[in-house]
Amino acid sequence: MPGSSQTRLGPKSQAVIERTHKYSANHYHRLPVVFVRGEGVRLWDLEGREYIDMLGTYSALNVGHCHPRILNVLREQAGLLANVSNAVYTPQYADFVENLAKFCFLDKVLPKNGGVEAWESAVKIARAWGYGVKGVDRNKAEIIVCDGAFHGRTLAAISATQKCGDKFGPSAPGFVSVPFGDTDAFENAVTKNTVAFVVEPIQGEGGINIPPEGYLNKVSYICLDRNVLFVLDEIQTGFCRTGNKFAFWHQCLSPDLLIVGKALSGGFLPISAVVGTKEAMDAIKPGDDGSTFGGNPLACAVAVEALKVLEEERLADRALLLGEYFISQLKGLDSSLIKEVRGRGLMIGIEFQREHGLEFRDKMLEAGVLCKETRDNVIRFAPPLTITKEEIDSVLNRTETVLRQR
Ligand SMILES: Cc1ncc(COP(=O)(O)O)c(C=O)c1O
Repeated sequence: MPGSSQTRLGPKSQAVIERTHKYSANHYHRLPVVFVRGEGVRLWDLEGREYIDMLGTYSALNVGHCHPRILNVLREQAGLLANVSNAVYTPQYADFVENLAKFCFLDKVLPKNGGVEAWESAVKIARAWGYGVKGVDRNKAEIIVCDGAFHGRTLAAISATQKCGDKFGPSAPGFVSVPFGDTDAFENAVTKNTVAFVVEPIQGEGGINIPPEGYLNKVSYICLDRNVLFVLDEIQTGFCRTGNKFAFWHQCLSPDLLIVGKALSGGFLPISAVVGTKEAMDAIKPGDDGSTFGGNPLACAVAVEALKVLEEERLADRALLLGEYFISQLKGLDSSLIKEVRGRGLMIGIEFQREHGLEFRDKMLEAGVLCKETRDNVIRFAPPLTITKEEIDSVLNRTETVLRQR
């Protein structure tokens, strides 16, 4: 029965955890649970206990676990043609780029695999555009990013956002960081060498940080005025998560480049992309970018079906309505442990007083709810957008119970 279980691990789970620790690199703090099945909003562990997935694989599972329509397409395409070299054409790739460009109301698509790869390609496009179109001197291009941003974990991405420090230095040059939400700081940082401003509409890993009203409009206007590409990283906020197809749709905005990933494949496969205007995207020529698996027919067919599901199941509307309900109920919780509840659609953060966030996470797992922290004691709720009001109420009940245990 959901909620009644303890996370006490059975011997089978323990054996999996031990093997993982023995043979895996030590690159994640994992929660003590072993999952073997997912369906919709539910997960089951090796001992058969049921959980509500409020993590949604960091927003990759907007359509829920193992969506049957997408699963059918995956099975069929895997048996027809899973992969073939990018040296040739496939109908699945043509469908993918056409559907994704139209979904985003932009012109052209560059496919990659993981999110950070798409982010890196956006950086390359911006630099190539800077040298080829804007006329910036070679090797002088600067890209402005935001303090607290997260764009992934390659060397360039960590150079841009947190600097490589003693462990991974030297940092890659060419990035300047300004406070998130501060229009003046951004404007003052723009120089003749600035080629792009890359920003998350809502910072996800940074702690579900929502910028001040009007910020994105103002910075996009400054970009236009100063001939700087306006680049949105919607890897986490995209594909209906915040109650609109993309978070930037809440404002009247038009990015030059849009970086997408995670939910693009319905959570089944790694596929990501840079989507952009013809002018920016045309800076890339054959040989400048590519990847063996990027745009493979299997991932493309799956992504096209996932885009259809997002629209046909009206998941943006669901996220908007249920998100408003959920956030208002969470804000109404009377607990001295909570500092703030913030969010948009079904991208929600509960900021706890020091230390209590992790304790809350662990107790929620015991109560049959999977959730996890972002930075700084903020617990994120980003469930599949197919979640029902009854499931939200069940999570609210468990939240109240856990908070009362203090
Ligand atoms: C905003 C944002 N950009 C980029 C990434 C990196 O994506 P990936 O982990 O698929 O490389 C993430 C991952 O959480 C993200 O939230």
